[in-house]
Parts: sequence; structure tokens; C-alpha cells
Amino acid sequence: MKGITCVTLCVYTACLMLATSRALDGSGLDASAEQYLSRRNAEVARDANKMSLASWAYDCNLTETNKQTMMALQNENAAKSKSEWEQWKLLKWDEKWNQTTDPNLRRQLKQFSVQGMSALPSDKFSNLSEITADMVATYSTAHVDMCVELQNESVCDLNLEPELTQLLDQVRDYNVLTEAWVRWRDASGKRVRNNFLEYVQLSNEAARLNGFSDMSEMWLDPYESPSFQSDIEKIWQEVKPLYEQLHAYVRRKLREEYGANHVNLTGPIPASILGNMWAQSWGGIYDLVQPFPNKPTLDVTAAMKSQGYTAKKMFELADKFYTELNLIAMPASFWEKSVLTKPPSVDMVCHASAWDFYDGQDFRIKMCTDITMDDLFTIHHEMGHIEYYLHYKDQPYVFRSGANPGFHEAVGDSLALSVRTPKHLHKIGLLEQIVDDEESDINFLMKVALDKVTFLPFGYLIDKYRWRVFSGNITAQDLNCEWWNMRYELQGLKPPVQRSEEDFDPGAKYHVVADVPYIRYFVSFIVQFQFHKAMCLKAGQYDPNDPNLPLHKCDIDKSTAAGEALGAMLRLGSSKPWPDALESLTGSRTLDASVLREYFAPLERWLKSDNERHGEYVGWIRDGEYCQGPPQLRQNYNKVLHESRNNQITITVNEIE
Ligand SMILES: *[C@@H]1O[C@H](CO)[C@@H](O)[C@H](O)[C@H]1NC(C)=O
Ligand SMILES: *[C@@H]1O[C@H](CO)[C@@H](O)[C@H](O)[C@H]1NC(C)=O
Ligand SMILES: *[C@@H]1O[C@H](CO)[C@@H](O)[C@H](O)[C@H]1NC(C)=O
Ligand SMILES: *[C@@H]1O[C@H](CO)[C@@H](O)[C@H](O)[C@H]1NC(C)=O
Ligand SMILES: *[C@@H]1O[C@H](CO)[C@@H](O)[C@H](O)[C@H]1NC(C)=O
Ligand SMILES: *[C@@H]1O[C@H](CO)[C@@H](O)[C@H](O)[C@H]1NC(C)=O
Ligand SMILES: [Zn+2]
Repeated sequence: MKGITCVTLCVYTACLMLATSRALDGSGLDASAEQYLSRRNAEVARDANKMSLASWAYDCNLTETNKQTMMALQNENAAKSKSEWEQWKLLKWDEKWNQTTDPNLRRQLKQFSVQGMSALPSDKFSNLSEITADMVATYSTAHVDMCVELQNESVCDLNLEPELTQLLDQVRDYNVLTEAWVRWRDASGKRVRNNFLEYVQLSNEAARLNGFSDMSEMWLDPYESPSFQSDIEKIWQEVKPLYEQLHAYVRRKLREEYGANHVNLTGPIPASILGNMWAQSWGGIYDLVQPFPNKPTLDVTAAMKSQGYTAKKMFELADKFYTELNLIAMPASFWEKSVLTKPPSVDMVCHASAWDFYDGQDFRIKMCTDITMDDLFTIHHEMGHIEYYLHYKDQPYVFRSGANPGFHEAVGDSLALSVRTPKHLHKIGLLEQIVDDEESDINFLMKVALDKVTFLPFGYLIDKYRWRVFSGNITAQDLNCEWWNMRYELQGLKPPVQRSEEDFDPGAKYHVVADVPYIRYFVSFIVQFQFHKAMCLKAGQYDPNDPNLPLHKCDIDKSTAAGEALGAMLRLGSSKPWPDALESLTGSRTLDASVLREYFAPLERWLKSDNERHGEYVGWIRDGEYCQGPPQLRQNYNKVLHESRNNQITITVNEIE
């Protein structure tokens, strides 16, 4: 019985191979690839369009009905993708795709050679979608009942946006900050800890069905480089000396504000006092650390408010900057369909995002805009995504993405580096006067560094952590405590109160619960300086040999040469490996941290001498236990810790396990 089945099968396969091989060799193979691809690209774009519309409807209005509609469509698409996968194998594309002679066709086929999440059995697929949707909904509807004074008003129901974000940014009372910090984590991460563990299991299962060892490997696939992880580590080591100088300086300033009992001279900084819920970038505490307080402040938020800026006006300003570079204007439908402010009494995902609806016409931004300078930069960031969409809209569907995901994140940010210069802010009437002296320059660079340099270890942390979780190096036993070990190592931070394995602090961050890979932001924060430098050269606003034209003062405003060079790279989408795209704009084929170091060079010199002058310790030494292991081990742990104190031995919870 078995033998017969086998013979039948073999004969059937052989027939198929005969039938297809005649059509599929030499140029015949390319011709049929072209046919196959034009059908698949069009179909997938249609499905992606429907899917985006349903996701948009849900994200803008988190109701159960909208969720069910979205999930049903997700399951339907997964089923479709499964049958396409059968077809793919039946047509032998899994064996033949890399024998096509046209490199463009081969690159497209390669994209289709990974099945994706639909490789999961359908019940598990829908379980995974539901888990992710639930985590996002928990995060997006989380709020904290706590009464505080914000902008002269007493508020008692705190959502992440805007109240908690404002609180972390504006309140300077250590205990209030600690309470808000802890209670946000109770309301968000802690509640999705078990969901997250299930999500990891199912994601890994999907990755294995796609031929990857686990999900970390699948996430790294778009970077098309076997040495990518070690390249990132090297880049981090290159910028670390600058980060450590900044860290030591900021720690001194925070000690002046909060006192030595809260901020240890040589220790890590409490994560709750850096002006941001995740201490991911520290621009919120600029007022505390401004090097020369007597020079004009570079925060134009107050000017925007007094000039009656609205969300719409901020978007129009960004659109004007893009179009004056000869990039593409936001289409009329963008203005009609985008959500630029949060409608009252609707639950929505406020996390700002830019959407491609894959029909070549419909592009939107969803953002709960606040009238601040930060949000003005965020708008430039999101609009950068739309520019990318607009430029590659005529590529086949599989190439409608960034050269790598980091490029997509870097477009808007690289333009915002021009917009944020005092020269430019003055030009658009947000800064009354430009004081062009060394002290004002250091003030300016400090503000940019608080946004950009402080982000780098965080941008690395989130995925370095998840790579370890996916690969099994971090398990349920040390899910949260290992997070704090890494936060200590990379960022030099500690929690304001001791954490435990009942908490899940990574889950207090959107991208972790929303299944969004994060290393793209690290890549972006390096490569955006490379984009900036290339465009500044084109604009004639930067000359490495002219001290009057340094990189950090360059404003590419109205330079069509700069805009066209950027546009040419954006048009490529992902049709070429990213080193090719990078080379087309910058002449370099590698990520290069030296450009960022050059941009901040005057600040780095200043920080070094200032830290030396104050005898600051540069770096950090562990000054306590920041996280206790699993509840069942806690008693044991306390006992050992007690004994070890007497013996002057430092014991970490991991050693107890
Ligand atoms: C939100 O979605 C529901 C359907 O679930 C719909 O009835 C309601 O009108 C929507 N609200 C808004 C503001 O779009
Ligand atoms: C195509 O892929 C197969 C297996 O993945 C490999 O053995 C073969 O060398 C590849 N051929 C080309 C032309 O790249
Ligand atoms: C997913 O499956 C797990 C294990 O079968 C189950 O415990 C869980 O409730 C399911 N979750 C959802 C959201 O369907
Ligand atoms: C808050 O109130 C004080 C005094 O009542 C006033 O001086 C200050 O301008 C107000 N601040 C804001 C942001 O409204
Ligand atoms: C995790 O990785 C580190 C570094 O490679 C290794 O020393 C450690 O033993 C690993 N831990 C587990 C649980 O796999
Ligand atoms: C600061 O950290 C050192 C260890 O690095 C420790 O000896 C000291 O007690 C800490 N000080 C405070 C106030 O926590
Ligand atoms: Zn983005």
C-alpha cells in the first residue's frame, strides 16, 4: 500500500517537472517568472490594500467589531497565502527561483520564497494575531488613576498620550515621577507578560516553518548580511565613548536637581527622571541640563503655542519643506483621510504612524498631535515615510519598502536635522534671534544629542533583548531581570524601585507588544547623519575644510540638488541591496558612525573638559539589586543576599538560579 502511494506520487511529480521544465529553462524561465510575478504582485497589493484599510479602521477606533473585521481579513489573507504557497511549490519555484537570469526578477522571486506568518497552521495563526491585537489594545487603552497638576490643571485620569508623556517631561518631583513610572508599567507591561510568552512561542514556530532557526533570524533577514549583528555591536562600541561622556554630565545635573540620595555619583541613573517614559531619549530634561542657561533656549514650543500653531499648520509646514526640495507634495487625499488629532471619546492607537495603502494613491498619517517642537520633528519623521511610499509607488509590490527598514525611518529625521537648526527656525519665525557663538552652539548640540545620542543604546537594547528572548537565551525565569541587566549595561540606568519577575517592563513599550522590530531605529539614527552629510554636500551647505560650514549648522532648505539626490534613492525602494542604495546617495557602502561623531565633535570636546573639570566619574558602577528573581525564589534570595552582605560578596539573582 505504502509503495503504491510512493510510486504514484513520484510519477505525478516527475510529470509536473517535465511539464514545467520545458517552459522554465533559459529565457523561457525569465518569461514565465515575469508572468508569475506580475500576477502575484498585483494580487498581493490588492490584499494589502484591504488589510491596511481594516487595520486603519481598527487602530483609529478600537472597537470589538472593528477588531473582528480586521482579524477575519487577516485569517482570510493567511489562507490565501497558504494556497499560493502550495502553488509556488507545485510550479517548482522553490527550486527554480534562483536560476532566473534577470537579477531584478530573481530578487523579486526571493521575496516570495519566504512564506511568512501564514506558514502557521490556521488555528495557531489566528491565535497569534489575536494575542498581538490584545496586547496592543491593552497598551493603547491603559491608563493610570492618579491626580496631578499638569499645566496648571488638575488631572486624575492619565493616558499615555498626552498626560503621562507630559508628566514625565514636565514634573520635577521625584516621588510623583516614580509613582507614574511604576503605575504605567502596572497598567501596561505587567498585564501582557503571559501573552508575550505565548507570542514568543508562536512566532518562533512560524519562523521555523520558514526555515529560520527562530524569529530573531527571520527579523534580521531584510538586512541581507550575515555579519549584521556584530556590525551593529561594533557601531555601538564606536559611539559609546560619546554616550558615556553625555551620561556622566547629565547625571551631575540630575544630582543637582534631585539630590545625592536619589542620584549616585558613580551609579546608573534612575530611569524615571530622564524626561521620557522609557528614558529612550532625554530631550525632555533639556531645561535641567542646558549648558549655558543665559543663552537663548532652543525649545520653540512656547513660540509655536503663542503663534497659534495647530496640528494642521505643523503638517503644512513640513509639507512645504519637502516640496521646496523638489520632493513630492502630500496628495489631496492625504489631507482628507489622515487623522492628525485625537478625536474626543474614541479609543485609538495614538502611537504616530504613516500608512501606505498600496494602491498608489492613498497615503495617510495617524497621529495624536500635540503642539510641541518634538511633535513638529515627529511630523517630519512620519512624512518621510510618506515620501518613501510616494517615490516607490510604481515599483512592483515586493519592492515597495525601504532599502532596509532603517532607511525608512531615517528619511524624515535626516531632513529634520536641517529644520531644527537655529538658522532655519529663525527663518520660519519660531526663533527671534540667532546668537552665533560657541556657547549657543553647545546649547544647540546638547539638545540634539539628548534626542539622538541618548537614543542609541535604547535602540540597540530593544532588539538585542528580543533576539535573546527569541533564541531562548532569556527565558520566563529571567524575562524582566535580564531586561534590567541589559538596561544597566547598555544605558547605565536602573529602575527607581526594585522590579521583579511579576513585572514585564519591556511590555511597557509599544513596539514590544505590537510585534514591531526595533533595530531599524538604531540603524536610522546612524544612517540619517550619513544622509544629512550627503545632502549638505549637494546643497553646498557643508564643507569639511571650512570651519564656517560645519555639519551641524547645515540647512538644506530649498536645495533641489539635495532633494533630487534623496529622491533618486527613494525611488529604488528595496529593488537593490541597501549598500547599493546607500552608495547612490552617499558614496559609502557601509553604516558609518564616524559621521555622527563628526556632527557632535564640538559637544564631545566640551563634555570631556567639563566632566574633567568637575572630576566626574565617567561610566557607572552597580549600586544595588535592581530586580529580584521569580517569586518562589525570593525568600531564598533574600536569605542569600543577607548572608552575602555580611561576607562582603555581591551576589546577583542569576547566580542563585
Ligand atoms: C467606531 O466603530 C464602530 C463600529 O465598531 C462604529 O459604529 C462607530 O461609528 C465608529 N466610531 C467612529 C468615531 O468612527
Ligand atoms: C540556488 O539555490 C540552491 C539551494 O538553495 C543552491 O544550491 C544553488 O547554488 C543556487 N543557485 C544559484 C544560481 O544561486
Ligand atoms: C491561544 O492559545 C493558547 C494555548 O492554546 C490559549 O491558552 C490562549 O487562550 C489562546 N489565546 C487566544 C487569544 O486565542
Ligand atoms: C500657571 O499659573 C501661574 C500662576 O498662577 C502662571 O504664572 C503661569 O503662567 C501659568 N502657567 C501656564 C502654563 O499656564
Ligand atoms: C546566553 O548567552 C550568553 C552569551 O552568549 C551565554 O553566556 C549564556 O550562557 C546564555 N544563556 C542561556 C540561558 O542560554
Ligand atoms: C553609590 O554607589 C556606590 C557603589 O558604586 C555605593 O558604595 C554607595 O553606597 C552608593 N551611594 C548611595 C547614596 O546609594
Ligand atoms: Zn517611523
